[in-house]
Amino acid sequence: ASERAAVSARVRALLERESAVLVAHYYVDAALQELAEETGGCVGDSLEMARFGRDHAARTLVVAGVRFMGETAKILSPDKRILMPDLDATCSLDLGCPADDFAAWCDAHPDRTVVVYANTSAAVKARADWVVTSSIALDVIAELHARGEKILWAPDRHLGGYIQGRTGADMLLWQGSCIVHDEFKGTELELLRADHPEARVLAHPESPAAVLAQADVVGSTTQLIDAARKLDAGILIVATDQGILHKMRAQAPGKTFLAAPTAGDSATCKSCAHCPWMAMNALTNLAEALEGGRNEIILDPSLGLRAKTPIDRMLDFAE
Ligand code: 13P
Ligand code: SF4
Repeated sequence: ASERAAVSARVRALLERESAVLVAHYYVDAALQELAEETGGCVGDSLEMARFGRDHAARTLVVAGVRFMGETAKILSPDKRILMPDLDATCSLDLGCPADDFAAWCDAHPDRTVVVYANTSAAVKARADWVVTSSIALDVIAELHARGEKILWAPDRHLGGYIQGRTGADMLLWQGSCIVHDEFKGTELELLRADHPEARVLAHPESPAAVLAQADVVGSTTQLIDAARKLDAGILIVATDQGILHKMRAQAPGKTFLAAPTAGDSATCKSCAHCPWMAMNALTNLAEALEGGRNEIILDPSLGLRAKTPIDRMLDFAE
């Protein structure tokens, strides 16, 4: 514990030395989330992280999350230095949507409005008309549907299917998924609910349809945390990365949180309820990145510029 406190103190000193600010996601280690809050940074969902990074005056942002979050920060602020604890922290949705294949798919459907989830590479975003995060995806597609537009959606098939079901929009779906949320199981969830009939279910929309169908609240990480606080229920079953429980417990201290059941137990399932890439963020590699100015996000400026238009569209819509 004292070693942890020492690294934490070192990170604080380095943040100050570098005039840097820490932008963290709810799935990363609780120590990083606390540090972000205590040092004037932010902990948020991907939309809030993007907005905070864009609006903050600091010239250096340290993004504790996964690569697409660092890239989004760079796209929105090309003149800032964006560092990450580990540049290999990727996302299965990003990996499952290679830019060339995606471009060919877009070429085959020129009549459709291209909407991509934020969990994609800068090259995929550069090809999109809209970028959306989980907090705003439903509202954006509902609006495009109301305007009579047909949608090409990538990469998360569960989120896409959920929005299609809610809005009735004409959507073609890329067949990607999140390895963490894909593991949540509908049948086992039914059994757990039968054991706790008073419990309410909070689910991230990257979860499979059989799970979302049983959810009382479906939303982004921030929306789920808000719901945990507001819902009048003593027991909450949570279908998302368990890193979120740190904030949920802090905001709803009297409540009991149960992890939604996954296919395997923790011994056999490496990605069950915790993202292996989010887990690559730690105090030590964060300190190293700041110390040596290492792990900087570098993007081709013209690609960044093309990727910025669909992100700006989302941020304007959100305002
Ligand atoms: P949020 O935008 O809801 O924080 O989601 C990001 C993510 O990667 C969820 O798996
Ligand atoms: Fe990607 Fe899933 Fe990890 Fe989120 S939890 S970063 S969607 S792999």
